[in-house]
Amino acid sequence: MHPSFAPFPLARSRRSRRTDWLRDMVRENAVSVDDLIWPIFVREGEGVSEPVKAMPGVNRLSVDMAVKAANEAAALGIPCIALFPYTDAADKNPECTEAFNPDNLVNRATRAIKAAVPGGGILLDVALDPYNSDGHDGFVRDGVIVNDETLMALEKQALVQAESGADILGPSDMMDGRIGIIRQALESHDFSDVVVMSYAAKFASAFYGPFRDAVGASGALKGDKKTYQIDPGNADEALREVARDIAEGADMVMVKPGMPYLDICTRVKTRFKVPTFAYQVSGEYAMIMAAGQNGWIDEEKAMFESLLAFKRAGCDGILSYFAPRVAQILAE
Ligand code: PBG
Repeated sequence: MHPSFAPFPLARSRRSRRTDWLRDMVRENAVSVDDLIWPIFVREGEGVSEPVKAMPGVNRLSVDMAVKAANEAAALGIPCIALFPYTDAADKNPECTEAFNPDNLVNRATRAIKAAVPGGGILLDVALDPYNSDGHDGFVRDGVIVNDETLMALEKQALVQAESGADILGPSDMMDGRIGIIRQALESHDFSDVVVMSYAAKFASAFYGPFRDAVGASGALKGDKKTYQIDPGNADEALREVARDIAEGADMVMVKPGMPYLDICTRVKTRFKVPTFAYQVSGEYAMIMAAGQNGWIDEEKAMFESLLAFKRAGCDGILSYFAPRVAQILAE
């Protein structure tokens, strides 16, 4: 090591920041299209593309349009899409029966996409909230979100999703024991190749607001999700959740939301060395888009910087509504 002053600085960080090629050469992290999972909202109808409030550029797509989007994803090299159903109020009830309907919207969309674009990955959310008239991720009994009864339902939901051709299941409900139940059910029904990406460190966050509107859950939701999602003040607890989900058979884990929880991403990756994903959620997307549209930040630069931050934090991949836009720019 040189002394840092003698009498001028010998070690000059700015030397390697001088030109584009030098910066490119020493950059430690980069975003690639392989890192991206594109979340897509599906709805009933045909030829429909309906804008989502508070998510400029994001639309709810009917199944035929979702097939088109999946084709676009494949053409851009996006490895995987995630499908989320917008469920009509008429299909919601306290028993969440639509969740285990093999012909529900998301299962029909999965089959249609698998038939048209067999090469790409499909991730489905395992959780009851789109189908629950209470808007919760679990059954509500006497005002309490019950755990073990919900597990039985998640098991049924996971099996119809696997049957429809989903490659990855993402339990996002935060009930205790769901990963073990789902993994066992998959193994005993010949779905041992279906990957489980656990929403392991999922926080009770204000940043899910636009999503709940996108899937039609915001009107239904009574109260909040604080009795099952992690308290935003807790990091050790998030690590315990991740440890438990890995022990129960999760192949990959997710941290959600993303940007406000980069410390969790780093600790999860450093400690467990498993494939770690971040979900840059609807509210994060909305913030960047809103500031960009106001001319307050450079939207495109902020988009790339936010995704790079996930890579720097140690994430292997990112679920982001920016996925098609980023992939398009990377392809140019
Ligand atoms: C529901 C679910 C949520 C998101 C993904 N799955 C919302 C919630 O927990 O209320 C949020 C995604 C986003 O905000 O983009 N199980």
